[in-house]
Amino acid sequence: MRIGIPVETYAGEKRVATVPEIVVKLIKLGFTVAVESGAGDAANFSDEAYRTAGAQIVADAANLWAESDIVFKVTVPTSSEVELMRAGGILIGFIWPAQNPELMQQLAAKHATVLAIDCLPRQLSRAQKMDALTSQAGVAGYRAVIEAANVFGRFFNGQITAAGKVPPAKVFIAGAGVAGLAAIGTAAGLGAIVRANDTRAEVADQVKSLGGEFVKVEYEEEGCGGGGYAKVMSEGFLQAQREMYAKQAREVDIIITTALIPGRPAPRLITAEMVQAMRPGSVIVDMAAERGGNCELTEPGCVVVKHGVTIVGYTDLNSRLARQSSTLYGNNLFRLAEELCKTRDGIINVNMEDDAIRGLTVINNGEITWPAPALKLPAAKPAVSAKPAPAHGSSAAPAPAGKTAALFLAAALLFLLIGAYAPAAFLGHFTVFVLACFVGYMVVWNVTPALHTPLMSVTNAISSIIAIGALVQIAPPLTEGLARPDGLIRALAVAGIALTSVNMFGGFAVTRRMLAMFRK
Ligand code: NAI
Repeated sequence: MRIGIPVETYAGEKRVATVPEIVVKLIKLGFTVAVESGAGDAANFSDEAYRTAGAQIVADAANLWAESDIVFKVTVPTSSEVELMRAGGILIGFIWPAQNPELMQQLAAKHATVLAIDCLPRQLSRAQKMDALTSQAGVAGYRAVIEAANVFGRFFNGQITAAGKVPPAKVFIAGAGVAGLAAIGTAAGLGAIVRANDTRAEVADQVKSLGGEFVKVEYEEEGCGGGGYAKVMSEGFLQAQREMYAKQAREVDIIITTALIPGRPAPRLITAEMVQAMRPGSVIVDMAAERGGNCELTEPGCVVVKHGVTIVGYTDLNSRLARQSSTLYGNNLFRLAEELCKTRDGIINVNMEDDAIRGLTVINNGEITWPAPALKLPAAKPAVSAKPAPAHGSSAAPAPAGKTAALFLAAALLFLLIGAYAPAAFLGHFTVFVLACFVGYMVVWNVTPALHTPLMSVTNAISSIIAIGALVQIAPPLTEGLARPDGLIRALAVAGIALTSVNMFGGFAVTRRMLAMFRK
């Protein structure tokens, strides 16, 4: 079957539904791929790159839509695009059926089969590789921080330079869903002090694992509305939340809002008074701008300055990182193609018995099959795959139990051999070495990565304990009858002590100053 990749016609859209490296994989699955000329231009993928990957370049949209058995798209197709589509064709992309009833009717009239990537049952762990909502929100969360950094007049990380001390920026993230978690990881990676809040208390651990601090609303109420999504909270909770947000607005430099409740306008979290209370030069990035905005003063699609605060309301964050977004999206669709074509012969089989495919299929051969029946599964939100890799790799997944046991067994065997054959003098040093490694490991790994630099300077200061060696040289001999070292050795020892003292006192002083930057 032929997969067609059209130019995205939505104003300002720069993404493309597949990229050259994925074209190669689709061809290996047995498909042929046709790309409309210029489809990848805005995301920096040239026609030539697609051609080299094995795709056919088609000059116009009419040919692409009419001659393709399957069309991969990013944004919702326009009515004129649907007209170009061949009868009985397959369409895969964002559809949002609840918001687009007329489009659904038009596609059904075409006897199309439509797989809406936004309807993927995200609760299924098997579906994570196809989860385009997650991949796109992750990119957008990252980009929101970059947009904030672009208009913020200071560093994110704290620094002590010859030109003065710079405190770290304080960032508050409202809503710790996929986009929020990506924003937390990115801002923490840039060195900012990050705080976050969400109505779903269960995300607190995820916030912490990405280097943020979870700020709780002092009001007991369950925030989960099922399926891992939020629910509308009571007026009592919202009042308590507003008080907490007002306090944060006075303290922080940057607010990134990502709060959303499915099927509802974005909750209003940041009022005009809160904006007014922020320091001049502060920044708000409102990721929910398209859904009405979490901030009262947001203007969707624009950057505005109100009360000295820059409010970024971009609704095209993914297009602002088009190459990355397209690559991840292309990968999501490729994984879906694999599920649809298990025979790897380029023929798609829409298996309505498969939970993931059933959820995605909103129209099957012209019959509207949306909404899919609810899944009989415990609700859990697959946010994990959107987490950006932690900067220091400290929260990597634990090794499987079998692997760990084998590692311990091998280490025990090695020690047994060393104990049996090594000379006694070596054994003494070796024991100290192993204990030092263990203590070092425990110290470093129990310290949060952000504090590794002060930890290094304090250990450097402690290493000045070697000054004791020099002190022994200049002090009178402890054992009677032992001669004092000659003048040169004592002079060298005095110089050594002077230099080590710089290391010792300097190390402790630098550590103190560094730690002061992290104190809130
Ligand atoms: P999500 O549904 O995974 O996350 C939203 C989070 O907000 C949830 O964790 C929810 O519990 C929380 N929340 C809801 N009400 C809240 C409240 N009153 N207070 C605090 N937290 C609350 O959504 P996702 O995928 O993370 O996307 C986040 C936002 O970013 C959405 O509004 C989405 O439309 C938007 N977005 C914007 C893009 C752009 O270009 N501007 C691109 C991609 C996503």
